[in-house]
Amino acid sequence: MTLPDIRIRPETPELDDAIEQLADRAFGPGRQVKTSYRLREGTSPIAGLCLVALLDQRLVGTIRFSPITVGGVACLLLGPLAVEPDLKGKGCGLALMREGLSRAYGKGYSRVILVGDLPYYARAGFSRVPEGRIMLPGPVDPERLLWLELRQGAFDGVSGMAEPDMTVPA
Ligand SMILES: CC(C)(COP(=O)(O)OP(=O)(O)OC[C@H]1O[C@@H](n2cnc3c(N)ncnc32)[C@H](O)[C@@H]1OP(=O)(O)O)[C@@H](O)C(=O)NCCC(=O)NCCS
Repeated sequence: MTLPDIRIRPETPELDDAIEQLADRAFGPGRQVKTSYRLREGTSPIAGLCLVALLDQRLVGTIRFSPITVGGVACLLLGPLAVEPDLKGKGCGLALMREGLSRAYGKGYSRVILVGDLPYYARAGFSRVPEGRIMLPGPVDPERLLWLELRQGAFDGVSGMAEPDMTVPA
């Protein structure tokens, strides 16, 4: 697998429409009704952590992180992560994720959760949340509720309801 000559950089407001369209294409128009979207309600994606992948000037990938709390403890929600179909399988998704997680670590974040496919996200270190440990504001397949500690032990003693964190500025 050869990573194409993409540039990864923080997203900027003029890319907003293109990012939404890419996520619509990747997840389908029903994506906004998913539980993970309810977790983002009232918050803004975190500037500096939300990244785009550009091939020349073309947007080919996007990753966003939103602020949430779990049982009152600060956490990040990863998603959406989407890559243009013609660029799939070339490492763009993993490169976006690694860069985003590394920036999150650098900004002092310790915990990340997401709803997604374990076989894919395990490549970046995610694992299944033990059942009953984290509740979401809507239905979720427990097999797809995943977490990652950016700092060892960060989820020790953390459990409860996941909620949007409206105290974090955009
Ligand atoms: C999922 C997605 C972001 C991956 O991006 P990508 O740039 O194609 O991924 P990478 O190139 O980093 O990794 C590709 C590898 O992951 C595997 N993979 C991709 N999606 C997978 C999934 N949902 N489950 C398991 N493995 C997956 C590929 O088979 C490939 O495996 P290989 O390296 O053994 O050939 C992209 O396919 C996409 O936008 N999909 C639609 C939206 C989506 O479903 N996003 C969230 C996933 S839950």
